[in-house]
Amino acid sequence: MPSSTPAAPHGYYGRHIFFCLNERKNGEDCCALHNAQQGFDRCKAKVKEAGLAGPGKVRVNKAGCLDRCAGGPVAVVYPEAVWYTFVDAEDIDEIVESHLKNGNVVERLVLPPDVGR
Ligand code: FES
Repeated sequence: MPSSTPAAPHGYYGRHIFFCLNERKNGEDCCALHNAQQGFDRCKAKVKEAGLAGPGKVRVNKAGCLDRCAGGPVAVVYPEAVWYTFVDAEDIDEIVESHLKNGNVVERLVLPPDVGR
C-alpha cells in the first residue's frame, strides 16, 4: 500500500475513482463519445499493473452520467473529491501515478468548478 494512500477508517478503499461511461442513444453529446471507455480501461490496467488495486488501496469503477457532461470525459477521485477531465493515455497514466499512487493532484487536468451539464 502506498504510504500516501489515505486511511479509510469508515471505508473499504483508500481511493476510489469513478469514470462516467454514459452513452446517450439520442445522439446528444456524452462521455462515451470522447473515449471514456478507453480511459477507464487504461486506468484499470495501470492500477493493477502498479499493484495498487484492492481493499485498502485503489478501486476503479464505472459510473453513469455524473452530470458534468460539458467537461467530458470526466472522472472523480474520492475521498479528495477531485474532478478530472482527460484526453489520452498519458493523462490517465499521470492521474494514476501522481494522484492514485502518491496523493498529488494533477492540477493541469482538474475540471474547472463551473463546468456542469
Ligand atoms: S455524460 Fe458523462 S458526465 Fe454526463
